[in-house]
Amino acid sequence: MKKTLVLVFHPDLDGQSHANKALAQAAAELPDVTVRDEYAIYPGGAIDAAAEQRLVEEHDRIVLQFPLYWYSSPALLKEWEDKVLAYGWAYGPNGEALNGKEIMVATTAGGATSEYRTENGGATMDEVLSPYRMTARYTNAVWHQPFVLFNAMELDDAALAEAAARYREALLA
Ligand SMILES: Cc1cc2nc3c(=O)[nH]c(=O)nc-3n(C[C@H](O)[C@H](O)[C@H](O)COP(=O)(O)O)c2cc1C
Repeated sequence: MKKTLVLVFHPDLDGQSHANKALAQAAAELPDVTVRDEYAIYPGGAIDAAAEQRLVEEHDRIVLQFPLYWYSSPALLKEWEDKVLAYGWAYGPNGEALNGKEIMVATTAGGATSEYRTENGGATMDEVLSPYRMTARYTNAVWHQPFVLFNAMELDDAALAEAAARYREALLA
């Protein structure tokens, strides 16, 4: 199996989170998968870019897991991108660290599937996630089909267990 790094960006994974917690726990059960609670690791928000780059280098697939906040991510993921995907490492001269690595987004959305349509000025989830796809493209990484969990605030334990099983399958694919 591919060596997979799941970076979870939820500001309260051990507290308020239901969906991301269930997904993170499911991922952690798999062999060759490293799961990191980035907000717990960096409570002050100061990302250790060198340490994160080393971890990325050691894995074949990087999963960015987060709850959708304002059609984007919680702030620490943006900080992670800005600090870790550095010139001369992710792009620019010798910036080839992500070449050929898979990037997969796993996101949970409070909205229903039906809310992610282009009608009436709306956008599909593929469109919402396009900054991540473009970032993967720019760094010559391979864009993996995203894992999306809709209605994430309304799922009961059975639905969360079903989502966790789907997530495990996606991570194994
Ligand atoms: C600040 C904030 C912004 C949010 N923005 C969106 C949004 O733009 N679209 C959406 O579908 N859900 C949005 N939600 C709902 C979250 O995506 C949802 O609560 C989360 O995915 C549930 O996962 P959790 O149980 O791990 O917290 C937002 C929630 C918060 C707190």
